[in-house]
Amino acid sequence: MTLATTYMGLPLRNPLIVGAGPLTGDFDNVRQLEDDGAAALVLPSLFEEDITTEQLTDFFSYDTYGDSFPEASSYAPDPESAPGPDAYLEHLRRVKAAVDIPVIGSLNGSTPGGWLSYAKLMEQAGADALELHLFHSASDPALSSAEVERQMLQILTAVKGELRIPVAVKLAPLFTAFANFALQLDAAGANALVLFTRFHRIDFDVIELEVLRRVEYSTSAELDLRLRGVAALAGRVRASLAITGGVHTALDVIKGTMAGAHAMQTVSAVMRYGSAHLRKVLTEVEAWMIANEWNSLAEMRGNMSYQRVPNPAAYERESFRRMFSVDVARG
Ligand SMILES: Cc1cc2nc3c(=O)[nH]c(=O)nc-3n(C[C@H](O)[C@H](O)[C@H](O)COP(=O)(O)O)c2cc1C
Repeated sequence: MTLATTYMGLPLRNPLIVGAGPLTGDFDNVRQLEDDGAAALVLPSLFEEDITTEQLTDFFSYDTYGDSFPEASSYAPDPESAPGPDAYLEHLRRVKAAVDIPVIGSLNGSTPGGWLSYAKLMEQAGADALELHLFHSASDPALSSAEVERQMLQILTAVKGELRIPVAVKLAPLFTAFANFALQLDAAGANALVLFTRFHRIDFDVIELEVLRRVEYSTSAELDLRLRGVAALAGRVRASLAITGGVHTALDVIKGTMAGAHAMQTVSAVMRYGSAHLRKVLTEVEAWMIANEWNSLAEMRGNMSYQRVPNPAAYERESFRRMFSVDVARG
């Protein structure tokens, strides 16, 4: 029985990747994560604004940029304490030297531009792959869906043209025709699609008239949106598929694989329970597979996807209708 998988061409000992976030941003954690079973690490994102800010400081003096990019700061650390691009590359080099598992750099942005040169610098610093987090909040009334998609494809094409290492694209769920756009990213050379970005929570302080933003830990309840996304793409794209969001338990890993995922990223669960949680989940996945007579993840991958459904949209529509149609005759 094996948990081995291949994710965007990288052989992994199991499908559990520690996703972008504070865990992989702290050098003191990375060996422990590897020892506890992490199959790969995605470093926190280097943000477009951090790079352009650094480039701009050479020419201008200005205050903080934080408020100028309220949307893009979803997961951005405090600009005052965020590591600059050079510190980021140094962290990447150190992590790469410290662990044997693949190390994936992360770039987060939304517009084509010079900041993308950092993709190449990450490759040169030793990244085994790059995760491009194409940020999209769908809240700019001036930006059409066609333009959003055009810019994203332009970013991916520019990065793919420069890099030898595989490139994953991490996406928000906010696309009108998500599956169609995913196929376009696939055709443009994305080596993996990572579904889906989790947005920070917002609330209003109605006395102080302030927007309160916070990043909360996920629960397994957030998995179903990702299962749908992956199930819709399995077998239809060349790119590997990864789930990020709501991966907490062994059953989450089994479900993700059955939907068609090659890898599962986890952040909240490890932040909440510590890195030993990885070991627990992997042991339980193994036990479940033995009990249910599965020899490998490859055997079960995609067996619950839409691959055998000729018209997924019609199937979804019919399922929705059946769930909510009221039986008028019976009242
Ligand atoms: C505190 C925190 C910081 C994060 N920083 C990043 C980041 O820098 N780049 C990124 O792409 N995702 C970032 N994420 C998102 C995670 O990589 C992941 O996609 C999300 O938390 C969903 O996975 P989970 O349900 O396992 O937490 C962050 C998440 C948290 C909780």
